[in-house]
Amino acid sequence: MTDGYQPMRRASAVRGHAITFSDDPFVSDGALTDISDALIVSEDGIITAFGPYADTLAAVPDGVEVTRYEGALICPGFVDTHVHYVQTPIVGAFGDELLDWLKNYAYPEEERCGDRAHADSVVATYFDQLLSNGTTTALTFCATFAESVEAFFVEATRRGMRMIGGKVLMDRNAPERLRDTAETGYEDSKRLIDRWHGRGRTLYAITPRFAPTSTPEQLELAGALWSDSPGTFVHTHISESVAEIEWVRELFPERAGYLDVYDHYGLLGRRSVLAHGVHLTDFERARVRETGTALAHCPTSNLFLGSGLFDMRAAKKRGADLHVGLGTDIGAGTTFSLLATMGEAYKVGELGAFAMSAQKLFYLATLGGARALDLEALIGSIAVGKEADFIVLDPNATPLLAYRSAAVESTEELMFLLVAIGDDRAVAASYVGGELAYDRGGAGAL
Ligand code: GUN
Ligand code: ZN
Repeated sequence: MTDGYQPMRRASAVRGHAITFSDDPFVSDGALTDISDALIVSEDGIITAFGPYADTLAAVPDGVEVTRYEGALICPGFVDTHVHYVQTPIVGAFGDELLDWLKNYAYPEEERCGDRAHADSVVATYFDQLLSNGTTTALTFCATFAESVEAFFVEATRRGMRMIGGKVLMDRNAPERLRDTAETGYEDSKRLIDRWHGRGRTLYAITPRFAPTSTPEQLELAGALWSDSPGTFVHTHISESVAEIEWVRELFPERAGYLDVYDHYGLLGRRSVLAHGVHLTDFERARVRETGTALAHCPTSNLFLGSGLFDMRAAKKRGADLHVGLGTDIGAGTTFSLLATMGEAYKVGELGAFAMSAQKLFYLATLGGARALDLEALIGSIAVGKEADFIVLDPNATPLLAYRSAAVESTEELMFLLVAIGDDRAVAASYVGGELAYDRGGAGAL
């Protein structure tokens, strides 16, 4: 600028006990960074300084006040790698088994999202829930209607969040009002990609619901669209329930198995995220790994619908890393809280004699999720150059947490306690792009 005028940069500085990961604790020791008195400085949405308070104080721009959280634990914003915003209104509806639940609860509710006013109201609640639970990025199913996707991206943009979403592709085996065709599904998705992918912080996911609700023509066009649309995602479901797998076998007898359906249509690879994967075979898991495809482990949903127990041991074999994130899978999942989801992932691991440490669980919900989404360069950890999405956890949020946290002797113990008995009550604040986006406030305010 010729007159020397410098526009004001949006800056913030947050001080407190902070944790973050630089690597995957499933495969490497020393992945956790733990700074008991840290400072995070952000400018224009990006972290410009992070380190021990005393060493970092000089990086605070003139005039910026330091916000201090005492007795708290600051960590990267949580990443939800599989969730349906349009199912927010049916969380906790009676479950039964997947295919009946879809017919009786999910589809009737999704039909209502053809009405833009309804979609707008659901999406507002959805984003409020994400932020009050400490989730700053979510890979999100919308409904079949393009309008439901518009509602999602408009709200994501308004909140300045790093969000990924897409229109459901579904051209068979679903109620008529929810069905598109191979061609209209392709055209609508393409239009939405042109409009929203890479605009601000929003990204697009090509979203065939699951193999049974798409014809081979639709899957083929989805694969073609993905290969023509650099940087977009594929988001679908796989091998969640036994009945679903049997159905896929009947519908695609020419394919070697469920994963092979997606493989055949070019839907596997980096930035392809498959939800559930409870009943994958060893052979399929090897193919998932080889292609760089990610799995979203959704423990509360798998338990709620009685789908089965995800095999984390097989997925995270040492030295043979497979990308796994955690998904709440609202509305078959029963909580928006990634803390509670980590707790359920822990229990499911226990049932397979695979005890996961607090470090591993926090990793799955932060950097692991970002890696699963191939967004590690942007989000998932507190580090200079990354987007400034982080949250403040309160170990004294409930009387029981306060009672127990008074007795913990290490950061790791504190992290585990938050996982085991914490939920949205333990989220004191969420920062998006360095700005306070949610503040619990109230009597127990930090
Ligand atoms: N499989 C296909 N659609 C869905 C859905 O909406 N929820 C879950 N949990 N599984 C699915
Ligand atoms: Zn789902």
